[in-house]
Amino acid sequence: MKDFNSDEYAAMYMKDMEAKIPGYSLMFDLIFHGVLPVEAKEVHSILSVGGGLVEVMKSHNAYEDASFTLVDPSESMIGKIQEELEEYNISEYAEFKCSSFETYENKRCFDLCLSLLVIHFVGDKEQFLRNIYNSLEADGLCVLSAFSDYHLDWWETYAIHNGANAEQVGNTRKNPQSTMACTSADEIEMIANNIGFHGIEKIAQILSVDVWLLKK
Ligand SMILES: C[S@@+](CC[C@H](N)C(=O)[O-])C[C@H]1O[C@@H](n2cnc3c(N)ncnc32)[C@H](O)[C@@H]1O
Repeated sequence: MKDFNSDEYAAMYMKDMEAKIPGYSLMFDLIFHGVLPVEAKEVHSILSVGGGLVEVMKSHNAYEDASFTLVDPSESMIGKIQEELEEYNISEYAEFKCSSFETYENKRCFDLCLSLLVIHFVGDKEQFLRNIYNSLEADGLCVLSAFSDYHLDWWETYAIHNGANAEQVGNTRKNPQSTMACTSADEIEMIANNIGFHGIEKIAQILSVDVWLLKK
């Protein structure tokens, strides 16, 4: 399993993500320029589960006056994001909590939750999604994305061509379940449905990445 709790990985994470996820910027474009302006006009509070710099920056652009809380178990990833936000003079925008989300005890509710490219690293997906559900306002919305086991041949070719580490990509291609806790898109939808999300729409599939809109 990938070690996010390392300063070395945190320092190179943006480069790694852009190489390993062809279509990475497309996912954010779609969410912030296509979906959220229509589906989430009134957003006062945002919860980012397993966050990265891009969603903080894009949320700041779209919802500058909203509160933004980021929960992530990696001190290194949090430290790196904080460093970058200071450079952009927006370090005050985000509040950080260092915790795995399945075990995070939260009393607040949020209008919008973003959890992008995280759930495939999580063992207990049901508890993870249930905690998201319980953290949303009554009409709250979650945008969730996950790496799945679809289109792995194309993904392997494009990711390697894009500069991703060929050995790591090859290992993931051969055994996605041991490098991540990857499950099928159908299983994620089934868990979300069992928990009580009523509107479950897959809004995109970009190679091996699925993106959903989940409504409470
Ligand atoms: C691949 S990165 C994705 C970061 C960002 N959302 C993006 O799209 O660039 C996965 C992140 O999920 C975090 N993570 C892993 N397990 C988690 C969990 N159980 N709860 C919350 N975050 C978790 C990692 O520490 C890491 O920062």
